[in-house]
Amino acid sequence: MSDFRSVKGKVAIVTGAARGIGFGAAETLASEGVHVVMSDILPILDESCKKIQDAFPDVQVYAKSADVSDEMAVKALVDFTVEKFGKLDIMFNNAGMHMDTGAVWETDMAKVDKILGVNLKGAFHGCKYAAQQMIKQKSGTIVNTGSFFGKVGHALSATYGASKGGIHTMTQSLALELAPYNVNVNAICPGLAASEMHWAFVEEDAKARGITFEEMKQLELEEIPLSRYGYGSDMAGVIMWLASKSGEYVTGQLINVNGGLDFT
Ligand SMILES: NC(=O)c1ccc[n+]([C@@H]2O[C@H](COP(=O)([O-])OP(=O)(O)OC[C@H]3O[C@@H](n4cnc5c(N)ncnc54)[C@H](O)[C@@H]3O)[C@@H](O)[C@H]2O)c1
Repeated sequence: MSDFRSVKGKVAIVTGAARGIGFGAAETLASEGVHVVMSDILPILDESCKKIQDAFPDVQVYAKSADVSDEMAVKALVDFTVEKFGKLDIMFNNAGMHMDTGAVWETDMAKVDKILGVNLKGAFHGCKYAAQQMIKQKSGTIVNTGSFFGKVGHALSATYGASKGGIHTMTQSLALELAPYNVNVNAICPGLAASEMHWAFVEEDAKARGITFEEMKQLELEEIPLSRYGYGSDMAGVIMWLASKSGEYVTGQLINVNGGLDFT
């Protein structure tokens, strides 16, 4: 078999990997022979890492705690990876958070700093230090996590939407900057994904409508053409394509991975 679609032996960093999309993506990458450095701020990171390492003993899986809003912590994460493996092939800037901020006129600016610090600056830090290594290697793939909310404004989501919109344009700028170095840079836009972050929204929406959590999930599923939530494995499918020879010509794109939820 040719290596046109293979990612075996590549080295990836996944931020926000303790749970949700990041955990699922790390698990799928490991199952395909990718060595993974999993990073998060949650104490369950070690346990999440052990689960994947135990399931896939042929690859090396490390846990390295890092708050992505802290530039030096992200630099240390990239340095750790390069010390262990001598290279970095895939940077998946997935860590993110959401917080209720209300309408723009009632927004607490400390929340704006927090959300932009984690989502936008967090991805920026990951891009910055991954890029420095990938420029030296003249190879690599950077995947940022965007959102439909970063493409179209939603009421009561100005801050989260701005953080994701910022990620989108930063992705496109970096794609142009790294093109001469054989590094592709893209963002994936997940839609409705099965994760703790999303279940919190479902809970809130269910309360607001006076229906149960399960009834709210059913309503959402009816909106998704492929009739299911997205998983980390769905994101990993795209990441592996972008990181293999088969996807190397794709750069600067905002790729919906959303079961057909929207075509924007
Ligand atoms: N779930 C969805 O429907 C959906 C839709 C669009 C985009 N996204 C994006 O996908 C990404 C993953 O979200 P998820 O749905 O898996 O949510 P999640 O809350 O389940 O997972 C996010 C992970 O990021 C980690 N994290 C948060 N702040 C961090 C920080 N400062 N430093 C390091 N790690 C941090 C969390 O601890 C958590 O493990 C996020 O960027 C989110 O905005 C999710």
